[in-house]
Amino acid sequence: MARVLADDLTDAGYAVDIADSAAAALAKSRQHLYDVVISDLRMEHADGFDLLKQLKSVDPELPVLIMTAFGAIDTAISAIKLGAFHYLTKPFRLDEVTSLVARAVDERRLRTENRSLLRLARERSSLGAIVGRAPAMQRLFEMVERVAASNAAVLVCGETGTGKELVARAIHFEGPRKAGPFIAINCTALPESLLESELFGHVKGAFTGATAARHGLFAEADGGTILLDEIGDMPLPLQARLLRVLEEGEVRAVGSDDVRRVDVRVVAATHRDLAQAVQAKTFRQDLFYRLNVVPLTVPPLRDRVQDVPLLVERFLATARERNPLSKVHTFSPDLVAALSAKSWPGNVRELENMVERLVVTGNAEVAGRAELERALSEGPNADPTFELKRQAVAPLRQVEAEYIAWAISKCDGNKTRAAELLGIDVSTIHRRSKGQTDPA
Ligand SMILES: Nc1ncnc2c1ncn2[C@@H]1O[C@H](COP(=O)(O)OP(=O)(O)OP(=O)(O)O)[C@@H](O)[C@H]1O
Ligand SMILES: [Mg+2]
Repeated sequence: MARVLADDLTDAGYAVDIADSAAAALAKSRQHLYDVVISDLRMEHADGFDLLKQLKSVDPELPVLIMTAFGAIDTAISAIKLGAFHYLTKPFRLDEVTSLVARAVDERRLRTENRSLLRLARERSSLGAIVGRAPAMQRLFEMVERVAASNAAVLVCGETGTGKELVARAIHFEGPRKAGPFIAINCTALPESLLESELFGHVKGAFTGATAARHGLFAEADGGTILLDEIGDMPLPLQARLLRVLEEGEVRAVGSDDVRRVDVRVVAATHRDLAQAVQAKTFRQDLFYRLNVVPLTVPPLRDRVQDVPLLVERFLATARERNPLSKVHTFSPDLVAALSAKSWPGNVRELENMVERLVVTGNAEVAGRAELERALSEGPNADPTFELKRQAVAPLRQVEAEYIAWAISKCDGNKTRAAELLGIDVSTIHRRSKGQTDPA
């Protein structure tokens, strides 16, 4: 029977080992990582239940398929209770075996993948994942460590791309809630009514399109942390609802009368000046006080230029990992210096993107300053004013040609649209983008 199964499974593409006793099976399972074991319950010198228990003690996640006699449903159930993946009732068809084996292998692979993803998420979400030697960053890390241990509401402020989400994740993953969920929601991404049901859930039929009930992110984040990203953009009526949830620790799904207690830590983030928004009456003062128990500010990159080389090093490593075929191995010192000297209105994210772009498009093992200049002059995101600031005084005609080329690329090559935006005639665009002057 074992040999027949082994042949069939081999034909189906699996690598199969046969053990002719329970002891041999156990010995093999200590030496190899098998994806699945198929075992009978009744064997000559052993009990299948014992083998199952022992296999599970070697590798708790090893899927074991048990073969049982026809009608022995009780033994099958006992086997499942002991952790068997499934049972096969003799006589069985080959396709039953292959489909169960495929499922077992799949499930195990998913579980392993899931675990390594989780580990990766934890690693990427620790304080250690945030680069920063600048004093302002060191102070920030200290604060993160301190607030992570507490349950206090934290408001993370900072310009776009400075690392606010990274800080919010670190607050979660460095604290006692790290085993719980971390849920992030961007308050700008959805219209008000959708955001409401996204946050608090809804019952079936609560509104058109609510074809099934939803728990909502507050319920999902129970025992963990919710990041309310871009909280400054939350519409006023929702701010009122959020305030109530925070005050009462209870959520009520849209269209429901039942409340549900939730234990959720709230971290909010914004690139706006919330105090000013309170003044302008676009943000509720009471909610502001609730969220701003501990304010953290992530400094813009220009205030920590000394960190640029470290950031570049980190981003170079990850970009190379992501693009294993890239020719670029390192950046020359003058490239790093140029990256440090450039202004990054998009902060760390913009720098990260540029590093990846240099890795992807570079042609030499050591990328130099020239690559940066090429990257800046090409492509839809090139900032033409960088070129201008870089050079001494360039002829206006050249500057104009570069600017027009940039405008055209911004319009995805649509010259008519670019001409419209520039406020000139399309025929002028054709001429001037070639650096020609107008006819007299
Ligand atoms: N100090 C840092 N060390 C390493 N990576 C960083 C650092 N700061 C930011 N990053 C990276 O830069 C990118 C932007 O960071 P993040 O999304 O946390 O910024 P943000 O402030 O939330 O941006 P936005 O305002 O656009 O939402 C991410 O890819 C992040 O990994
Ligand atoms: Mg963000």
